Amino acid sequence: RYAGEVRIIEVGPRDGLQNEKTSIPLETKLELIRRLAQTGLRDIEAGSFVAPKWVPQMANSADVLNHLLGHPPYAPYPITYNYLVPNVKGLQKLLRTADDVKPGTAPDLSQPTDDPDTLPTPPPSPKEQEEAEPAPITSTEDPNEMPSDTSGVSDPVRPASSSAAGNQTEVSLFTAATEAFSKANTNCSIAESLMRCKEIVALAKSREIRVRGYVSVALGCPYEGPNVAPSRVAEVTASLLEMGVDEVSVADTTGMGTAPRTRELLKTLSAAGIASQDLALHFHDTYGQALVNVVVGLEHGIRAFDSSVGGLGGCPYSKGATGNVATEDLVYCLHSLGATTGVDVEKMAEIGSWISTELGRENDSRAGKAMLAR
Ligand code: HMG
Ligand code: MG
Repeated sequence: RYAGEVRIIEVGPRDGLQNEKTSIPLETKLELIRRLAQTGLRDIEAGSFVAPKWVPQMANSADVLNHLLGHPPYAPYPITYNYLVPNVKGLQKLLRTADDVKPGTAPDLSQPTDDPDTLPTPPPSPKEQEEAEPAPITSTEDPNEMPSDTSGVSDPVRPASSSAAGNQTEVSLFTAATEAFSKANTNCSIAESLMRCKEIVALAKSREIRVRGYVSVALGCPYEGPNVAPSRVAEVTASLLEMGVDEVSVADTTGMGTAPRTRELLKTLSAAGIASQDLALHFHDTYGQALVNVVVGLEHGIRAFDSSVGGLGGCPYSKGATGNVATEDLVYCLHSLGATTGVDVEKMAEIGSWISTELGRENDSRAGKAMLAR
């Protein structure tokens, strides 16, 4: 058993939606984020500031950011909202958007559940679950009256007066372990991509913004095949950490990873001196191997995993790759192993079913469908 905390990074609103062919209304995105924020999740990837010509579905991410910063928080506990940035231009756009937000001025496009009286009781965080009964939180729309446990936590890109919920804005940069994928996804070589990453880190750090980094195609590449050298993944990961990236999410973009190859990769990363606390794992479930690979990750000390509600997702530049491991399946699995996530799996199952219907697609969560059929 794996007693202890495991962090779930919900990537559905970004990785999950970016590949959908028909335009998704802003209201639907915000409603998805609002529902996810009320499951106990503490990390939600909300959008990306990439070139709209490349990924049109993410073109309104500034509106998402604007709404999340300018609107009362969706949950009475702090949530980190993350946005992908491919270059400094993307980060500058994010910062301009954030700097322009005046608290309370973003249009209210969500359902009318931000009334403090109707906010849900927050599910306990994993730490709180271990320690004691969490104190009841009486949330309020007045930032000055927010719960004391979140005061003093300020969001560096959020106007100070609206930061009392303790929500954070974080960015993710991304690079790859193969030249072909780097070119296809970001139109540059790995070396050029690392230069861009360095610029992003410098600007983000000057604004005290935490930075995640993705290394794509770590266990298989749509252009170069399944045998991506683990040593190459280790080199790129080490470069990101050296430049100041706070956490690297090692990504199986194509879902080609198997348990033995995941084990080999994690051993190589460890032998290269990369600490498991600096890593997260990001599994797409194309071949149905994601949960097995998660367990391999747990065995190697990894305690942070990316997932997507309803198994939504795919990368536009990785043809045939399906969604991320479904959050419902991941949470169900982790709880069965004795880990704590703070996430309400039943609520997550309902969201998976709801968003699948909204998008007119199959719900890809096995656990979610089974729970709802009980
Ligand atoms: P490029 O075409 O080489 O860039 O794209 P450029 O500098 O020549 O600019 C082209 C146009 O885009 C210009 O506009 C720029 O201003 C604009 P125009 O003059 O033609 O009107 N532009 C931007 N606009 C808004 N925001 C920006 C931005 N940058 C340039 N940030 C670029 C290079 C990196 C921009 C492009 O390749 C890109 O955006 N790629 C992102 C692709 C993407 O989002 N892929 C999916 C996310 S990664 C993923 O899913 C993997 C992950 O889940 C992990 C895994 O599973 O592996 C994270
Ligand atoms: Mg992905």
